[in-house]
Amino acid sequence: MPEYQNRAVVLARRPVGEVRDEDFRIETEIMRELRPGEILIQVLWLSLDPYMRPKMNDVESYMPPMELDKVAQGENVGRIVESRSEKFAVGDYVTSFTGWQQYAIVSDATPMLYKVEPAGLPPSVFLGPAGMPGRTGYLGLTRVGNPKSGETVVVSAASGAVGSVVGQVAKMLGCRAVGIAGGEAKCRYAVDELGMDACIDYKAGNLAADLAAACPDGIDVYFENVGGDVSRAVAPLLNAGSRVPICGYISQYNATDLASAESPFEVFGALPTPPEHRFFLVFEWNDEHAETTQRLADWIKSGQLKYRESVAVGLDAAVAAFRGMLRGENFGKQLVKVSDD
Ligand SMILES: NC(=O)c1ccc[n+]([C@@H]2O[C@H](COP(=O)([O-])OP(=O)(O)OC[C@H]3O[C@@H](n4cnc5c(N)ncnc54)[C@H](OP(=O)(O)O)[C@@H]3O)[C@@H](O)[C@H]2O)c1
Repeated sequence: MPEYQNRAVVLARRPVGEVRDEDFRIETEIMRELRPGEILIQVLWLSLDPYMRPKMNDVESYMPPMELDKVAQGENVGRIVESRSEKFAVGDYVTSFTGWQQYAIVSDATPMLYKVEPAGLPPSVFLGPAGMPGRTGYLGLTRVGNPKSGETVVVSAASGAVGSVVGQVAKMLGCRAVGIAGGEAKCRYAVDELGMDACIDYKAGNLAADLAAACPDGIDVYFENVGGDVSRAVAPLLNAGSRVPICGYISQYNATDLASAESPFEVFGALPTPPEHRFFLVFEWNDEHAETTQRLADWIKSGQLKYRESVAVGLDAAVAAFRGMLRGENFGKQLVKVSDD
């Protein structure tokens, strides 16, 4: 096997509040020879996702925390450059949770290692609209939100990786789709490009009034991505029988003690007549991974599902891009281009 030199971003210490450059360091290594059943992946694109920030704290949640002095965790898409596997061949594209690095060796039996068939699509879409965020938006909306034609669906972080899919699927299902996003440009995009009926800029200062005006018949489904002030503005507008899939609450993710930060579950649970509300994880529907990915990829190919990407170039740019995403500086799916295809 030729020599492959890896560069990896390692978690050097636990961040307090926003991540800092000093919380990470770059390490290099020469990749070892493959053992039977293993593959060597050259990472093309790294996905930066909000959930990574709570995982950098020393707190157990639905997944164990990231370990210090280990490669920062995350999903990427790459191409197999060496294989001793009967399941995967050199040239195959795969998504895997092999982290912030240029190369990874894994067993072909690794959980959450999936072959993807780009079939004309850029491989990066399998980290965005046809990837984990797309499946989250589609499955969370349809399985927990259960929207019906004619109902009003509100989604926060509406221009983002998950929110953009929620808004577009809500429209496909015949709903009125109202986004909430930070800034005029993101709101214009949600309406003009993604086809939502309205989008409210929560930074403009009139969120409660603007949202009430955009939802004259109240809100039947609120897809929660953000928490905090946004949840509180949505709560009084929820109709009897409404549903709130709680996908995440990014506004609190830099909190040092996320467990004590206010969660949307508390905001909606405290209402006199609470909506149906629950946290969900996309992994609840792992058995539908392949068919959901295919459905989303087909919609992208046919132009029914639009998306945007924010690209940071090179692993050295990953930490700043991650910090920026938790400030809302990304516009669409945040990616790091790790190497050329
Ligand atoms: N449950 C699951 O299985 C699952 C899976 C994937 C993602 N998620 C959750 O889905 C949500 C969206 O994730 P994503 O990957 O699609 O990210 P994203 O929307 O592409 O990017 C994050 C966006 O969040 C918004 N934001 C950041 N800080 C904020 C704040 N303080 N207040 C309000 N908005 C803020 C920003 O948009 P604005 O500029 O519009 O504010 C930012 O662009 C997150 O909560 C994430 O944890 C959950």
